[in-house]
Amino acid sequence: MTNSEWTLCYQGYDPAQEGLREALCTVGNGYLATRGAAPESEADGTHYPGTYAAGVYNRLSTDIAGHTVDNECLVNLPNWLALTFRVDDGPWFDLASVTVLDYEQYLDMRRAVLVRRLRFRDGGGRTTAVTQRRFVSMRFKHGCALEVTVVALDWSGRLELRSGLDGRVDNSLVERYRDLPGRHLEPVATRELSGDSVLLQMRTNQSRIAVAMAARSVLRRGDRESSSSDASYRLVQEDRWVGHDIGVEVHPGEVVTVEKLVTVFTGRDRAISEPGAEAARWLDRLGDFDEMLRGHILAWSHLWDRFHVELGNQGEELCIVRLHLLHLLQAVSPNTTELDAGVPARGLHGEAYRGHVLWDELFVFPILNLRIPALTRALLRYRYRRLPEARQAATASGHRGARYPWQSGSDGREESQQLHLNPLSGRWIPDASPLQFHIGLAIAYNTWQYYQATGDREFLANYGTEMLVEIARFFASLTTYDRARDRYVIRGVMGPDEFHSGYPSQPGNGIDNNAYTNVLVVWTLLRAAEALEVIPHRTRTELEQALGLRAEDLQRWEDITHKMFVPFHGDGVISQFEGYELLRELDWEHYRQRYGNIQRLDRILEAEGDDVNRYKAGKQADVLMLFYLFSADELGELFHRLGYRLEHDTIPRTIDYYLARTSHGSTLSAVVHAWVLARANRERALEFFGRALRSDITDIQGGTTPEGIHLAAMAGSFDLLQRCFSGLETRQDRLQLNPLWPKSLGVLELAIHYREHPLRLRISGSRVDVAAEEGLQRPVEVACHGEVAWLEPGSTVRFSS
Ligand code: BGC
Repeated sequence: MTNSEWTLCYQGYDPAQEGLREALCTVGNGYLATRGAAPESEADGTHYPGTYAAGVYNRLSTDIAGHTVDNECLVNLPNWLALTFRVDDGPWFDLASVTVLDYEQYLDMRRAVLVRRLRFRDGGGRTTAVTQRRFVSMRFKHGCALEVTVVALDWSGRLELRSGLDGRVDNSLVERYRDLPGRHLEPVATRELSGDSVLLQMRTNQSRIAVAMAARSVLRRGDRESSSSDASYRLVQEDRWVGHDIGVEVHPGEVVTVEKLVTVFTGRDRAISEPGAEAARWLDRLGDFDEMLRGHILAWSHLWDRFHVELGNQGEELCIVRLHLLHLLQAVSPNTTELDAGVPARGLHGEAYRGHVLWDELFVFPILNLRIPALTRALLRYRYRRLPEARQAATASGHRGARYPWQSGSDGREESQQLHLNPLSGRWIPDASPLQFHIGLAIAYNTWQYYQATGDREFLANYGTEMLVEIARFFASLTTYDRARDRYVIRGVMGPDEFHSGYPSQPGNGIDNNAYTNVLVVWTLLRAAEALEVIPHRTRTELEQALGLRAEDLQRWEDITHKMFVPFHGDGVISQFEGYELLRELDWEHYRQRYGNIQRLDRILEAEGDDVNRYKAGKQADVLMLFYLFSADELGELFHRLGYRLEHDTIPRTIDYYLARTSHGSTLSAVVHAWVLARANRERALEFFGRALRSDITDIQGGTTPEGIHLAAMAGSFDLLQRCFSGLETRQDRLQLNPLWPKSLGVLELAIHYREHPLRLRISGSRVDVAAEEGLQRPVEVACHGEVAWLEPGSTVRFSS
């Protein structure tokens, strides 16, 4: 790999790396994304062309280990890239059966264009050069383009290019899911639209979502569009495949290019009549490759202005950070705002977690809130639309309010797998993760943070407060009063650390008094009550009437916020949950030596016939999430309210305690650990920052990135620059900064958007400059090092300690 600030570059072909490159070289626009698979490839164990559209799910059921299990998946759509070639009726191009002379592939991140160049010699001794460029238009969300240039370096003959739309695809990327059915699409129609264009129509077989793609393939020689006498087009049409074979005579040195422009529409689009008709209609309006590319580049240049980041240290951090921002914007972008879609944990880049939406937006929204708040708002509305389903889930479990699902897809029901496969033991194991009720608290936290960053009271009045109140009600009804302690308790849940699904004698039944959950419940109850104060009186009354929220309910919330139980160990360390202290210590050294990579200790132990529930061993930050979400001051206030004292060393001791007992089996773990160590242990924090940066680019988990990028780790690693090392907070109607900037990273320059102000931040050491663009916005308050200043449009404020 030879990367620069704006390019991710791979030299040479390496089949073993192909899956990883495909995921990292995905191009997308927040509406759809396509993996960086070679255009001539099909799913064959090395390659996996995958295209996914936000929110297009399908549900299938099957029998596994004696149970009927239901699985909803983000559907792998037809492969629009399909384009291969051959010479003189020989075999179709296959990289594995030619001699590769040169090979390079790079992702131009500034333009979001993937380029692949190769030169090879075939069995007939002919040398050929090929260049392919592709993008998924950020400007026109239904448009994709591929350009393939073939140069006959030393031969003459008949070149035949096959370009089509391939619907013979299924969901089969993830090895562990192969026992689940993967055929989600059924054919509807294939049609030739004109001499050089075709239409493929399919439909998902359960959710009945129509999917239509149209493609035009135009051949050019040199700069000239080829006349029909020059090139011959022959329709190739099958059940699930439609395209053209384009034949042309070539001579040594001649350059032949095929421009393939594609439109994609689905039954979930708005402002359309019928997807097939739209795909055909819009195909004629795309212009040519260069014209589409210009619009695409312009849209990206606007996005990069908003996501501007510079690091002065010339290291590779900047390249990776930009790669992370690129993939974030390819998974969710302004194009997503009009869709009914959430934040898929693994992007639109693969099939891990079957494309579901988990709590990962907690790590993503802080980036969006400060750049495209309208996008956060749209993504929060994905949650709001599923409030009735969450209410139903709460009622079904005998509770009030709304219980959001751990994994969510189309309609907001719980989509976690009932059984999951441990690939190490081959056993199917019940999945207790629906007990991660804390996802609701993350949604509440996100709602409030969005409001804090934007001051959007209208959102709070129309949607936010209702979500906050319903989530608060659910947790209040989950909370029981323990008379002996005179405290409120929450039993039978799972915290973010997924290794503890229950006590050793009752795995899968949840644990009691997860500190993270309990403290966040207190915070949520406070914010729900505050939101009711902030919104207009009439709206509040209507909401209270509609929800049947009574004064006694609010009274009980208030009481819980003073008396929630938080477990501590005897030595004052915050306990992950009640009874954690009684679990066994794990012999970490033994397992490290024996297995090397012990990130998925849960699977290792299960395969040994043991159970991770027995040990003081965590997959990822759990208690420490509290120090990630709240500043020490805020947390101190919450504990004080509860009548607990946070000693000056409680936080560092709690961090050390869990740091020594975490396997970092989730990529989120490095982000949170970097964050919580940033102030006390700079070196270790930077180590974790480096680890978060490497999560995907080096496939740190050894095989998960090819199945889809880790969006939270990508966003979270950037957030370490944005909010952690800079100490940036949007709280109490102020932009607050408190930098402890690592010199090794050089000067940071950042664009953010705060309360309608486009701002530029410059941070070096403890020095901070905040500059506002000209405009008519109201001044905002900025605080740093105990000083407060009003920032007017067109002015700059400077702080130095
Ligand atoms: C983590 C979850 C996360 C999920 C998707 C899991 O490994 O434990 O916290 O939501 O990955 O990123």
